[in-house]
Amino acid sequence: MKIFAHRGASGTGPENTLPSFAEAIRAGAEGIELDVQLTKDNEIVVMHDEQVNRTTNGKGAIKDKTLADMKALNAGSWFDDKYESTKVPTLKEVTDLLVARNYRGIVEIEFKTNVEQYPEIEEKVSNLMTSQDWPFTYWYCSLNVDTLERIHKLEPKARIDLVMGDSEEAPTMALDRSYIKGIHPRIDWALDHDAEVPNYPIDVRPWTVNDEETLAKVMELRVAGVFTDYPEKMLAAKRRN
Ligand code: G3P
Ligand code: CA
Repeated sequence: MKIFAHRGASGTGPENTLPSFAEAIRAGAEGIELDVQLTKDNEIVVMHDEQVNRTTNGKGAIKDKTLADMKALNAGSWFDDKYESTKVPTLKEVTDLLVARNYRGIVEIEFKTNVEQYPEIEEKVSNLMTSQDWPFTYWYCSLNVDTLERIHKLEPKARIDLVMGDSEEAPTMALDRSYIKGIHPRIDWALDHDAEVPNYPIDVRPWTVNDEETLAKVMELRVAGVFTDYPEKMLAAKRRN
């Protein structure tokens, strides 16, 4: 059962930024999850939302901004003033950090949106990820099955997981595609399906698990992993359970 840092150590630092990834590495997270988006000038940046409003001091859609526009934003003060110099990272800057720290865990790259929003984002991410050998392992995931089909065609050997939203069809969509090796349901789904999860035919990794009691419950359900905002705390809880 692997502990994945959800958007980095996003409970203790600004999500999807270098400080939160550095903290996840320091804490010993067995996996690190991040979200990718594309700027107007086709640079891959790491941010959860399509808009910059929630996690920076700016406003508007990433697809309407250049990388220079994105780099002018403060991506840390919304979380805590001590992060006022924190910038939105590119995916390359994150992989540089992981290489510099010799990170040997799993990096789960989530495509947030579809090909209409970001033409060829799958190709761009795949080009970077296949450009060299890494100390870490990387996997892909998305809510969007079209994106998963595209990434599977680009990298037939890549490990691919489906993020489950509220659609009741999501488990079937995953099981119908042999290249999908795991599902990422909301924690409530995993707990509501406690009879099914222990024998589920593919990996189940719920999100988001931030307390020891919930972690203990899903460990009993033999999930393959969890996403947490507090990797240090959940790693300690895993050792106790
Ligand atoms: O991969 C599971 C998890 O990352 C989904 O949650 O909101 O971070 O995209 P979210
Ligand atoms: Ca995510």
